[in-house]
Amino acid sequence: MTASIDISDCRKHFPALERGDERGPYVFADPPGGTQVPRSVMDAMAGYFETSNANAGGPFRTSEETGNVIAAARRAGADFLNCSPEEVVFGQNMTTLCFAMARAIARDVDPGAEFVVTRLDHDANISPWLTAAEDAGASVHWADLRPEDCTLDLANLETVLSPRTRGVAFTLASNAVGSITAAAEVVRAARKTDALVVADAVHIAQHRLVDVAELDVDLLFCSPYKFFGPHLGMMFGRKGLLDELRPYKVRPAADASPNRWETGTLSHEALAGFTAAVDYIAGIGQAAGGGASRRAEIAVAFEAIAGHEAELSRRFLDGIGSIPGLTLYGIDDVERLYERTPTFAIRLEGFRPRELGEELGRRGIFTWDGNYYALAVMERLDLESSGGAVRIGFCHYNTLEEVDRVVRELRDIAGA
Ligand SMILES: Cc1ncc(COP(=O)(O)O)c(C=O)c1O
Repeated sequence: MTASIDISDCRKHFPALERGDERGPYVFADPPGGTQVPRSVMDAMAGYFETSNANAGGPFRTSEETGNVIAAARRAGADFLNCSPEEVVFGQNMTTLCFAMARAIARDVDPGAEFVVTRLDHDANISPWLTAAEDAGASVHWADLRPEDCTLDLANLETVLSPRTRGVAFTLASNAVGSITAAAEVVRAARKTDALVVADAVHIAQHRLVDVAELDVDLLFCSPYKFFGPHLGMMFGRKGLLDELRPYKVRPAADASPNRWETGTLSHEALAGFTAAVDYIAGIGQAAGGGASRRAEIAVAFEAIAGHEAELSRRFLDGIGSIPGLTLYGIDDVERLYERTPTFAIRLEGFRPRELGEELGRRGIFTWDGNYYALAVMERLDLESSGGAVRIGFCHYNTLEEVDRVVRELRDIAGA
């Protein structure tokens, strides 16, 4: 039996979903930009301030409690990603962590080394490699996307790998067009070289179970604020690699992994909230039939989430099919719903993306427009110079009724 999800029960956890105006409840259609937060996450953050606010490592009660908060967050990260707590690194956000790692990796490569990035990626997994390569005298090679369905061009990826490749950075799913990358094939190709394999899991992590052991990657980044947690970045680093690379760090800070990669003081309140976010997801799994551990519950939760989200995608694709002047960029085939997330980039004839986003906003539908920092995607689709596209995204707490409402408003705006 496949796990299922009780959406109305899930929605009760999110105070923001109760907001609205005279037109009705707001539709939060920007989970790819950042998800709403359950009450338990807010309580955990406030609770930390109320009882345990301190720096870590001091010889007193609240400092010890802060140490426990950090340790609990590492265990939660380990359960979320399927690794050991020593392989979980926290930071301000994904972008900052990626810059730090790219710089540390490039520090030890020979001039003439090559890095591979992809046109499907958010710029946070591109610019760090471009700048680090420039500093190191290395070069960067681009793997293309296939414009017809906005998926990574695997054949093209093979052609840009070489014996000099030292890093392959790719995304597990596109925050712009929703395509899910055939990760096993990317890793298989990359492993034929000596490259470190680096995955961006920021977009996928709200939609699918992430398993670093199965993926066989060296580094993987995600951002808890994209999966119901607070603004924070998180990274998996293979233990041997975290020990071997040389971080840029201050001398008095711990020299052991994972702490050596966490420059300065962490946001302890965000770590408390992060653990609560992971527990929220595990709770979905528990409600859907459970599992023998938190990791198993998370796995069940994502099975349920993926099933619901496929229905959201089906409804949206069916609905927009007959709207005149509407163009969708990305997978539109309802036979391929599991190859995409419910994140859709669209254009409507007669409207610049910002104008369409504003009109949707006036109607209580909150979307994003432009390039959403997936600059390379918009350039490749030749949309960048004319305002990018409007991104309409859904996640597990969105309902079929909300999808219908978005489709209805789009149809109305199109004058159909
Ligand atoms: C796919 C993807 N990668 C990376 C990032 C950057 O994440 P952060 O805001 O944590 O730096 C984002 C943010 O939108 C994203 O969607």
